[in-house]
Amino acid sequence: MQQTGFNINNRRYIGSKTKLIEWIFENLKLQNIKIVCDIFAGSGVVSKQFTNIPQITNIILNDLLYSNEIIYSAFFLGQDANFKLLNELKDFFNNDIKLAQNYFSDNFSDKFFSHNDCIKIGSIREYIDTLQLDDIYIHILLASLIYSMDKISNTVGHYEAYRKTQIPQDKFVFELITPINHNKKIEIYRLDANQLAKNIKADLVFIDPPYNSRQYSRFYHLYENLVKWEKPRLSGVALKPIEENMSEYCRSNAAHVLSDLVDNLDCKQIVLTYNNTYSSKSSSSQNKISFNELKSILTSKGKLKIIEKKYNYFNAGKTNFDNHKEFLFLVEVK
Ligand SMILES: C[S@@+](CC[C@H](N)C(=O)[O-])C[C@H]1O[C@@H](n2cnc3c(N)ncnc32)[C@H](O)[C@@H]1O
Repeated sequence: MQQTGFNINNRRYIGSKTKLIEWIFENLKLQNIKIVCDIFAGSGVVSKQFTNIPQITNIILNDLLYSNEIIYSAFFLGQDANFKLLNELKDFFNNDIKLAQNYFSDNFSDKFFSHNDCIKIGSIREYIDTLQLDDIYIHILLASLIYSMDKISNTVGHYEAYRKTQIPQDKFVFELITPINHNKKIEIYRLDANQLAKNIKADLVFIDPPYNSRQYSRFYHLYENLVKWEKPRLSGVALKPIEENMSEYCRSNAAHVLSDLVDNLDCKQIVLTYNNTYSSKSSSSQNKISFNELKSILTSKGKLKIIEKKYNYFNAGKTNFDNHKEFLFLVEVK
């Protein structure tokens, strides 16, 4: 059956390398690379690009977030799933599901989504919980729910805040994701990168950590909550649960933590992405690791090459040149 749903890059994700992916891959030397590890995989778009490289046999994805783990499973392990069944469920969710007040509507109504959309989202989530299906089907349904929500949420793309100037309209439609077709062996982890680094061997490790104080588990708390469905009490304007999965890369000892990660890697090549917001005006977007600290951490591991790209981004209706640069650090390990 033809599938026309969401692709992995159809999601807003802070720090996603979607727009830089061609530039990154143009600069990689992958001739002798078979096993790759995307150790801060985020949206998963870098790993998706690795599936297009013929000589690569194994891809290891890792991230701290529960919702990302589910999304990787759906996109990278879902290609043999029965979409006839999934399409029937999609139609049922959009047309016939019994709607009732629920945890999601009690907490989020008219904030991140309209009241009616919250009733739908929460009712679908409750229904998914009752299904007796293999894990891969549950993962595809949850990933599809997240992508369908991202498409209409009353936010700038994360859940630190919602737009208060407008009351959200009823817009929610459940659409399925389309798993990636590939012939690679996939391993998925939800571990602290520093812990995983001690236990894997790969030819190439792709490193793209957070570089400022903003925690991904707080940005995407709503998806973490939805996936886990433990219905915790929420607080604050953004209705977050208590803190979990806070990253050391967002704290002042980030350089030390990265140095420990790099020390423990058993690989032939390291690829790391970085941008020059180290001295940004807003303190929350200032980098925790400086360019020179990075250089010294990576030089200790092997021969370092640095490639840069001027990156002009569009901001609030004005083109903001701001001297923004993206860097690719490539290390041939000693
Ligand atoms: C800049 S994003 C990666 C973006 C990704 N390359 C992409 O293109 O979408 C950084 C990711 O690291 C994850 N993360 C933060 N600290 C981590 C840690 N200690 N171990 C594993 N993952 C971590 C975050 O959840 C986030 O998804």
